Amino acid sequence: MEEKVKALQHEVESFLVKSKEDLENFRLKFISKKGSVSALFDDLKSALPEEKRKLGKVVNDLKQLTESKFKTFQESIENLASSDQEIMDLSLPVIPNKTGNLHPLNLTRYRIIEIFERLGFNVSDGPEIEDDWHNFTALNFPENHPAREMQDTFFIEKNPDVLLRTHTSNVQVRLMKNQKPPIRSIMPGRVYRNEAISARAHCFFHQVEGLYIDKNVGFSDLKQTLYHFAKEMFGKETKIRLRPSYFPFTEPSAEIDISCLICHGEGCNVCKYSGWVEIAGSGMVHPNVLRNGGIDPEEFTGFAFGMGIERITMLRYSINDLRLFSENDVRFLRQFKSVV
Ligand code: DAH
Repeated sequence: MEEKVKALQHEVESFLVKSKEDLENFRLKFISKKGSVSALFDDLKSALPEEKRKLGKVVNDLKQLTESKFKTFQESIENLASSDQEIMDLSLPVIPNKTGNLHPLNLTRYRIIEIFERLGFNVSDGPEIEDDWHNFTALNFPENHPAREMQDTFFIEKNPDVLLRTHTSNVQVRLMKNQKPPIRSIMPGRVYRNEAISARAHCFFHQVEGLYIDKNVGFSDLKQTLYHFAKEMFGKETKIRLRPSYFPFTEPSAEIDISCLICHGEGCNVCKYSGWVEIAGSGMVHPNVLRNGGIDPEEFTGFAFGMGIERITMLRYSINDLRLFSENDVRFLRQFKSVV
């Protein structure tokens, strides 16, 4: 009989109760009048008198164990009574929290900031709703000059003109007014142009403007700064090329190209078989712009540049359609690890 008690004890101990039904089964199986623990007391009656004492204790212990287990199960089931959940299994691995990740344009923006901060540039900000003076006139765009049409503008009000800034160069003017040289700053932000939306153009996009004004700033500083940037951003092998260009606010002006990351100069459809991809406009700040900003061009010189964040992000991650950045499709957005 002792064997029987042991086997039953094992059964009681390993019985799992996860629901109300399990609890009832436990009761029926062991505790109810017809249950196997109750049946032990009948067996006890027919035991030899000298064994009765010893067996009686063992059977009573099992009865108590069974009843206290029942009570514990009952309490935990009652705790879950409001829901139909099963008892929580604490040994299961946790379900990981799904964390989001930064937007690819922000990843690129932070990386650009990081590179220039190490060169001693700080970060400045300016308004997206701008007046004509800061967006055009102070930047040496003459009245009615066709250069204004280089950038199709969204006007909010006419005479005096209020508009959505067409570039981040507006912040240059505000910085010059508010700060004395040396000025060494980058200005990231959103800009707007009235353009038809396609894989290569959008009515809003992002730029980072750069401005460095001090005594004796020369074209070589511009070139070396952007060369350093290109190597940091795209890898040590990257080469740059400066192409003469025109912007009203710089003289001389240059377009900055980098060697094509896709074909390494062999020729492909990203670089249109030229081996080079444009990433920024740049130049030496025009004396008129310095004067408009309250800075004496006889004492100070400076360079400026402006680059498109979308363009750089597309090169960085081989993305071929600009619209993906603003469609908010998580299947696209989830692919970017939050590593700047
Ligand atoms: N603002 C120009 C654009 O949006 C980009 C640019 C070119 C900015 C040359 C500059 C610069 O600061 O020096 O096309």
